[in-house]
Amino acid sequence: MKIVEKSKELNALISGYKKDGLIVGFVPTMGALHKGHLSLVDEASKQSDVVIVSIFVNPNQFNNPNDLDKYPRTIDQDREMLEQTKCAILYYPSVEEVYPEEDKRIFDFGQLDKVMEGQFRPGHFNGVAQVVSRFFDLINPDKAFFGEKDFQQLAIIKKMTKLLGYEIKIVPCAIIRESDGLAMSSRNMLLTDEYRSEAPIIAQKLFESKNLLSTKNIKEVINFVTDEINKSGILEVEYFEIVDGDTLQPVDNWGDSDFVVGCIAVFADKVRLIDNLIYKKLA
Ligand code: PAF
Repeated sequence: MKIVEKSKELNALISGYKKDGLIVGFVPTMGALHKGHLSLVDEASKQSDVVIVSIFVNPNQFNNPNDLDKYPRTIDQDREMLEQTKCAILYYPSVEEVYPEEDKRIFDFGQLDKVMEGQFRPGHFNGVAQVVSRFFDLINPDKAFFGEKDFQQLAIIKKMTKLLGYEIKIVPCAIIRESDGLAMSSRNMLLTDEYRSEAPIIAQKLFESKNLLSTKNIKEVINFVTDEINKSGILEVEYFEIVDGDTLQPVDNWGDSDFVVGCIAVFADKVRLIDNLIYKKLA
């Protein structure tokens, strides 16, 4: 695996791959890698000839400077983990390399970034779109792989790809969970033992709620999940919304959409955890 810090060097390598007609797969990450990321790399290596992984903690997507400061950075461990995969290039640029000048672009995602994460993290998705589009311009991958855990991010990336006319296939990859159900996340390593042992309640209550669809309406399911998680006494639900999986707009009745997803954000002290569950997806 090559470690590349400069975009010029990356460019030269990619031109070579493209000349050879190779399919380039790209997995953007912010590091602090775990098995969820490795599953993206694995999927990328199944679907591409060369896999490029980026590690870049993107300052533009943090609306809270504390969150940026405490975001875990584990580059040595990340590099060792990637060495065990089929990743050909680890792209590890500096902030100056990615943003030689300020990125002032404002994207119009319609209603997609006005709800859920967008409401609580203003500017977050604009920053995600900025960095991903910079990487897309630089790498021009054939395919890019994103986890479904960040359900809203995936919708935003798809929209951005359309808006900017990229011919890049966006490949969604399933959520990878710990054995107790907790969705894998780089933020999990920030949890104290006490919060780590309570955090699986989030997934457990989501799964339990899937058995309630025939007996409870949407409002009742929202209340059930929210109350049950808050009952833990130390976890605090920031939002739990049941939305249409394409528009991300709230759904009032189970029958109103063919694609219904529950998306949740929970505070475990200062650590913010997100998760989601697909209740219904027809065709
Ligand atoms: O999902 C993430 O880790 C980040 O938002 C991404 C897509 C790598 C952009 O910084």
